[in-house]
Amino acid sequence: MPFFATLFALCVTTFPTLAGGLSPSPFIVPVQRLVNTPTTGHSLVRAGQARLQAFSKAHSQVNGIPGDHAALAPPAASLTDQIVTFTINPVVNGKNFSLIVDTGSSNTWVGADPANRLQPGLGLDLFEVTYGSGAVLGDETTNTVNITPGLAVENQSIGNALLSEGFDGVDGIMGFGPVDLTQGTLLDNAESTIPTVMDNLFAQGTISNETLGVFLAPTTTDDPVNGELSFGGVDTSKMTGPMSFFQSTLPFWSISQSATFGGVTIMDTTTCVVDTGTTLLMLPEDAVTTYQDLIGATLDPTTGLLSITEAQLSNLTTLSFIGTDINGETQHFDLTPNAQLFPRALNTEIGGSADDILLITASSGSNDASTIDCIMGQSFLQRTYSAFVTPNGNPDAAGTVGFATTPFTDATTN
Ligand SMILES: *[C@@H]1O[C@H](CO)[C@@H](O)[C@H](O)[C@H]1NC(C)=O
Ligand SMILES: *[C@@H]1O[C@H](CO)[C@@H](O)[C@H](O)[C@H]1NC(C)=O
Ligand SMILES: *[C@@H]1O[C@H](CO)[C@@H](O)[C@H](O)[C@H]1NC(C)=O
Ligand SMILES: *[C@@H]1O[C@H](CO)[C@@H](O)[C@H](O)[C@H]1NC(C)=O
Repeated sequence: MPFFATLFALCVTTFPTLAGGLSPSPFIVPVQRLVNTPTTGHSLVRAGQARLQAFSKAHSQVNGIPGDHAALAPPAASLTDQIVTFTINPVVNGKNFSLIVDTGSSNTWVGADPANRLQPGLGLDLFEVTYGSGAVLGDETTNTVNITPGLAVENQSIGNALLSEGFDGVDGIMGFGPVDLTQGTLLDNAESTIPTVMDNLFAQGTISNETLGVFLAPTTTDDPVNGELSFGGVDTSKMTGPMSFFQSTLPFWSISQSATFGGVTIMDTTTCVVDTGTTLLMLPEDAVTTYQDLIGATLDPTTGLLSITEAQLSNLTTLSFIGTDINGETQHFDLTPNAQLFPRALNTEIGGSADDILLITASSGSNDASTIDCIMGQSFLQRTYSAFVTPNGNPDAAGTVGFATTPFTDATTN
């Protein structure tokens, strides 16, 4: 048998699922949860709004809207202002780093903790990511990133911080956003981009499908209950229904959604960023006002979050996100009344009382249609399996975001 025919036969015998058109198993990596305390509800809202401003800046830059055209990268500094951050622990050059899992930015860098830095690179290829309230400046180094056994990214360009501000308790970020968001972060070459971890894993053939699956558990206590990341495909064992895919628009992971509460439209179709780096559900100001009025919620001055009574809780109904999937069909993903509550176990960590009933929805502070004013943050993603799919071989093309229900979709945890 000629060599290639032998190889083909081998492949067909060894990987029958490939012949059947299915993807090989993805690599599953556990996610740690860090609770950043003490913080306040006010700072969670501010962090969400700062994130929106940076997304808006990146959006206006790629869409040619006049404005402040700084680097595309959003403000990761607000990441450690979030009550919860999700991290993974890759090993680089023998060091184990705790990196924030961020679908809202795309640079990967380490060294926020001065005691945990890499050796400086040979050339001085400076990078800078500017944030709402801070920045990281450092040099790019090329290293192998060992994410989990069998899943190593070779020749990954990683930022090694020389100066950073705003990253307590973590070493840096692993950016899972589209490569476009790295544009403008290399100081000597504003036009160039830095291939992301996902781009390199695909280019190197380590994964055959440039998909990241994200499964996060709701926050019930201060325990570091894990979720997981799935590299190279989705983990169907964590899904309780089919996945619906929505077209994403660059430069970040963002999809068109509207929202209803108890069947009443509270948000017309708008662009929502799907972001593991934001705690709250950030919605346009008028959507939040309508939602608040329908429930009768009040804005709690102590925490800065919407607050409801037991009677209003028993009257709470479903908050649905509605979009047209890539097959042209209308799909909705629902937050049950319980899923709309801020985790009560964390009430006292954000300046509230244990028996407060607070809501996860906060106002973007704007109704300006030209800006980005919706983030489907952790509060949504802890109830829904999400997938971030880059069209194979073309990291510059807009991909799709998939959602599926999980055992946590209807769980009563808050
Ligand atoms: C890094 O350390 C954490 C615990 O701090 C551990 O869970 C993880 O498995 C380690 N990572 C690797 C790749 O060894
Ligand atoms: C990594 O870079 C080295 C040096 O440029 C090269 O020889 C090697 O083939 C690269 N490896 C991969 C997997 O791209
Ligand atoms: C990659 O995986 C996603 C998620 O399961 C799927 O929708 C997509 O079709 C896959 N792409 C290819 C080329 O197989
Ligand atoms: C319950 O909801 C209905 C319909 O939105 C409203 O008319 C009623 O006032 C609400 N009751 C309470 C206690 O908030």
